Amino acid sequence: MALVSMNEFLPKAKANKFAVGQFNMNNLEFAQAIMDAAIAENSPFIYGVSEGALKYMGIENTVALAEAAAKKSGLPIALHLDHGSSFEVAMKCIRAGFSSVMFDGSHYSLEENIKLTKEVVKVAKEMGVSVEGELGTIGGVEDDISVDEADAHLAKPEEAIRFYEETGVDCLAIAVGTAHGMYAGEPNIHFDIIEAVTSKIPVPVVLHGGSGVPDEMIKKAIAAGAGKINVNTENQVACTNAIREVLSSNDKVYDPRKYLGPAKEAMVEVVREKIKLFGSNNQA
Ligand code: 13P
Repeated sequence: MALVSMNEFLPKAKANKFAVGQFNMNNLEFAQAIMDAAIAENSPFIYGVSEGALKYMGIENTVALAEAAAKKSGLPIALHLDHGSSFEVAMKCIRAGFSSVMFDGSHYSLEENIKLTKEVVKVAKEMGVSVEGELGTIGGVEDDISVDEADAHLAKPEEAIRFYEETGVDCLAIAVGTAHGMYAGEPNIHFDIIEAVTSKIPVPVVLHGGSGVPDEMIKKAIAAGAGKINVNTENQVACTNAIREVLSSNDKVYDPRKYLGPAKEAMVEVVREKIKLFGSNNQA
C-alpha cells in the first residue's frame, strides 16, 4: 500500500469517536517500533516528522522509511510534516513524497495565519495531500521551537470555526491547555473548547502534547472531538531509559543493536498502549 492522506482515516475517526495517533519519527528505530505496534494492533497511524527530525534523518531517508512501512504493513499510514514553518518547507515535503503537512502559522495574526494556511491548502488539495492548521499557541519545547507556558494562549472557538471555514484544513490543532514535553503536574485541558469547535466543523481537532496526559483526560478529549493525538516525548523517554539501563548494567556493550533493540521494544509497548487508549486498534 502507498502512503495515504489523513482523509483516509480522519473522517471515520470523527464519526466513530476514536483518535488516530501521530507518533513522531526520529530515526530508524522509531519508524520500526511505530510500524510494529500498529501492525500488532491493526491500526492506521501518522508518522509525524518535525523540521528538526527531517534535518537529522534527511528527507529521502524519511520518505523511504515511511514508504517501506506502508508497503510492508499494508496499513493506512500518513507521512506528515509536523509544525511546518513555511509554504516552502511544506512544498519541499510534498515534492519529496509526504502525504500530509502541517502549516503552523499560530505565531502570526489570525488574518495572516488564514492567508498563509490557505496558500498551502490550495496546492496540497490538488496533490491529494492533507493539511493541518494551528490556532492559539501550544506551550512547551519541541525541537528548536520553545514556547514559554506563560506565553501560550488558548484558542478562541469562534476564531477556530472561522479559521476552518476560510482555510478548509483537514484537521485543526487548537491550543486547549496541553504542552509539548512532559508535565510537572497535570495539564489543565479545556474540553469545552474542543467541544465548542468540533460541534461546529466537520473535521476533527488535533491534540498536541499527548505525552504524559492521564488516560482519563485523553478519553474525555476524544469524546469531546479530538480525532488526532500527537505523541513524541513518551517514546523518547522510553527509548532513552532502555538504552541507559543496558549501558549502565554492562560496560562491555559496544554493539548498538544490543541497546537499540531493547529501546525499540520499549517504544513498541508505548505505542501499542496509546493505540488502544485512542481506540484506533482494528480500524485499519
Ligand atoms: P509530546 O512530545 O508532548 O508528546 O508532543 C508531541 C507533539 O505534539 C508533536 O507535535
